[in-house]
Amino acid sequence: MKLQHEGKRSFFTATIGFALVILATAPMASAADSEGETLFKKHCANCHSLEPGKNRSGPSLADLMGRKAATIDGYRYSKLLRSAGEAGLVWDAEKLEIYLASPKRYLKAFLKEAGKPASGGSKMTFRLKKPEEAKAVTTYLGDF
Ligand code: HEC
Repeated sequence: MKLQHEGKRSFFTATIGFALVILATAPMASAADSEGETLFKKHCANCHSLEPGKNRSGPSLADLMGRKAATIDGYRYSKLLRSAGEAGLVWDAEKLEIYLASPKRYLKAFLKEAGKPASGGSKMTFRLKKPEEAKAVTTYLGDF
């Protein structure tokens, strides 16, 4: 009987502990997201929408993560980005962060590593140089 009681108590303690962890991490996650949202609106939204099928001067970034590069229908990509997509570039958080610091440099390096020719430049001339800003935007884009 006593054992059972202790069992209940440790279950209770564990539940409270778990709830506290959730409470502590939730505001952190949303703070990073809202910073990412602010940065996206400031830097990216002029050229990119987050609505599927809606391209501006840049392609829509809806469902970006896990998507092969340069595959939005009806958007005219640069040869450089198309080549990177054909060589197997699939967007994930890590790649996007490096890409944002310098699209042209990243795509050339990616193609070189894949052993493919890299000709032309990137159509995206904008660069987001601060790594912490690139990380915040990337986290935000993971939700779309
Ligand atoms: C001045 C306009 C402009 C700004 C600002 C801009 N982009 Fe772009 N972006 C482009 C263009 C144009 C392309 C197409 C590049 C190509 O074809 O080489 C592109 C391509 C991309 C791609 C590749 C998409 C695909 O379908 O493979 C990603 C990812 C991207 N941009 C993310 C961003 C993010 C995130 C920001 C903000 C931090 C940003 N861009 C800011 C114009 C812009």
